[in-house]
Amino acid sequence: MVKKIFFLLLFTLLLHTVSAQREMKLLVQDWKFSQVDTKAAHLATFNDGSWRVLNIPHDWSIEGNFSKANPSTFNQGALPTGIGWYRKHFYLPAKASTQHVELNFEGVFQRADIWINGHFLGRHNNGYVSFKHDITPFLNKDGNNVISVRVDNAAQPNSRWYTGSGIYRKVWLDLSSQMFIDPWDLFIKAKVEQNGNAAVEMSAMVSNFSGQKKELKVVHEIHDERGKLVANSAPITLALSTEKTAVHGVLKIADPILWSPASPYLYRSTVKIFEKGKLIDSIQTTLGIRNFGFDPTNGFSLNGKRFLIQGVCNHHDLGAIGAAVNRSAIKRQLILLKEMGCNAIRTAHNPPSVELLDLCDSMGFLVMDEIYDAWAKKKNKFDQSQDFKTDHQLDVQSWIRRDRNHASVFMWSIGNEIREQFDSTGLAYTKELSALVKSLDNTRPVTAALTENDPSKNFLYNSGALDVLGFNYKLDAYSQLPSRFPGSSFIAAETASALETRGHYDFPSDSFRIWPPDSKSTQHGNPDKTVSAFDNVYAYWGNTHEKSWLAVKKHPHMSGAFVWSGFDFLGEPVPYHWPSRSSYYGIIDLAGFPKDVYYLYQSEWTRKPVLHLFPHWNWKTGQTVDVWAYFSQADEVELFLNGKSVGIRTKNDSTLHAMWRLDFVPGQLKAVSRKKGKTVLESSIQTAGNPYQIVMRTTHSALNAAENELGFVEITVVDANGIPVQTADNTISLSVQGVGKLEATDNGNPVGLTPFGASSKQLFHGKLLAMIKTTDGKGKIVVEASSPGLKPAKLILLTR
Ligand code: GAL
Repeated sequence: MVKKIFFLLLFTLLLHTVSAQREMKLLVQDWKFSQVDTKAAHLATFNDGSWRVLNIPHDWSIEGNFSKANPSTFNQGALPTGIGWYRKHFYLPAKASTQHVELNFEGVFQRADIWINGHFLGRHNNGYVSFKHDITPFLNKDGNNVISVRVDNAAQPNSRWYTGSGIYRKVWLDLSSQMFIDPWDLFIKAKVEQNGNAAVEMSAMVSNFSGQKKELKVVHEIHDERGKLVANSAPITLALSTEKTAVHGVLKIADPILWSPASPYLYRSTVKIFEKGKLIDSIQTTLGIRNFGFDPTNGFSLNGKRFLIQGVCNHHDLGAIGAAVNRSAIKRQLILLKEMGCNAIRTAHNPPSVELLDLCDSMGFLVMDEIYDAWAKKKNKFDQSQDFKTDHQLDVQSWIRRDRNHASVFMWSIGNEIREQFDSTGLAYTKELSALVKSLDNTRPVTAALTENDPSKNFLYNSGALDVLGFNYKLDAYSQLPSRFPGSSFIAAETASALETRGHYDFPSDSFRIWPPDSKSTQHGNPDKTVSAFDNVYAYWGNTHEKSWLAVKKHPHMSGAFVWSGFDFLGEPVPYHWPSRSSYYGIIDLAGFPKDVYYLYQSEWTRKPVLHLFPHWNWKTGQTVDVWAYFSQADEVELFLNGKSVGIRTKNDSTLHAMWRLDFVPGQLKAVSRKKGKTVLESSIQTAGNPYQIVMRTTHSALNAAENELGFVEITVVDANGIPVQTADNTISLSVQGVGKLEATDNGNPVGLTPFGASSKQLFHGKLLAMIKTTDGKGKIVVEASSPGLKPAKLILLTR
């Protein structure tokens, strides 16, 4: 009995504590959606009964069909854009009337007009910057409320890449007490001191909407990863004005465990507010303790050691699911990049999702967080330059305030290839933006991705307001940067812009194709819109992956590089126009299948032994074929064709691959890498017969339905002997039964015009990806794949 009462008491106490604190309510389910631009849809009384019901994050562009006629053009993925309305009905219990309530949008593309219960809250233009509104005064007493959102992505073209359309990131209701800390008003910064201890500085603003002067106590605590308290402050007494009141404190951590990409150790920092001994708000953030710096001669250092940035630039789209943010899709990308040895991401050219930053914090990636591709001078008729003058101050503030507590973020980039670089209008803007960033965060350098490497002509540089100079391409100028820009620190903000279609090979492999060759010619290349996957094709402003990386490696003043690009993305299909609709730049294709060059980076960026042999071995007898290998942790590679050696190759300072030229005969190609005469790795490819059987593979053990986790299923075919048929292009039909549905399919073909939602699609160079979504809670999802003349396959995914 006593035990029971104790538990009851404890339970009531717990409830009390929880109810007194902040509640973050995700508003992602059951939104109403319409693509008819209905004026009255902002009214609380509007009848949306006939509208489509969906969950957000949602991107209506990705649901559409590719078409040359879409005003977004092939450069933005050739998908529909336009105007969309969303409405969300929600109920708040009576208790909410005593609370402060904010409505938080993590990203709406773009020009979002927001109403609550018919009251207009405002317009937010920038499609990537998060924003929020205080909705406390406009909530209905009976608890029934409705949000209306009009999204206007009609003016086209408005970007140089695919943007997506709609409420493509999460929406929250943030319910707190009348006295609280807005998460964007909290900044936790950690510094490693000379003696190796960390000083963790907390600064926050406490808001007070109670209408009365109050006295509160604030406590700051830091816990380690296992939940052990490692530092806490004495209660700080705060006399609150009726607006915002600053609070500040420093905690010390002796001998802290440092954060790095190799060991992304995260502490947890908690700031609590007490009123008369009662906890009324508590706000948590992860905390990574690291120190870093840039040096004009030696590049970047992290935690006291030189650290080479091995980064990639990525756009925000997630391939076949478009811009609609999904944690598991981002995680899949980051796992692939991590295995390649990548340690940094540049968020080209806009603020990323919260999910990306959280994952970079916990998985260990440095992030160059970037805000703009254009300031006041446009690159596209209807791009963000239209709003720059009116919006940049608020946008920059929101960007920094949202992202500054992420350990992964190590640089703020105020722009990419900004046109103001070339005239004196660049001076004032650079100074203003940089000062604004520093007023909110003085712990990270401000950079920009530049192209003009004549200092007298570069007005972003001449502003004197950049801490690190990012240079895009022009690797021949790397050696002259220190003398041209004395005292500056450098990073290759963009390299390569090499082009490849996964699985497609043109011979000879050792002659270079520059597509397009100059700024005057636009379309260049193969009639079927393919590009050879030997690293020998690039746009005239770029270079091969191999040459680009060698140049970065050779110059210690270069802090490292961000390769253009980690993944293929929708839009910008250089060197082609329509019907190409996605890029050829990725190290990994749009479906998430690595191209061969992935292994070049893996051989350079990791210490694991690599031996990657390509292309496939299905050619015409007698045809001259080049065979390449990327290898590492070995002195040499020997190639055998049907058991007979065809030569040993080594590498030197100017090559990162091995090549053999052979006359094709069917059979087996085998490569053996050796170090000091000892075999390190063996790899072989075999001539495949006709496609015989479908194979499905997944890396998931069970999908988490609550987290909206997607199941990624890779589909390939083998011949009757089980040999992978890398050239197969069979059409595969998929059926999904049980507690899931087929979300999207993709084969990575930049010219594929079958919609991403189709359940039947061709293999592209032997591969197809199916993305499976959970629909209900715990259970089984059965995926079946069939194709005329092939043995079908079945795969079971479990959900939890
Ligand atoms: C760069 C630009 C990128 C992308 C790339 C393609 O100049 O910054 O956004 O367009 O070229 O090569």
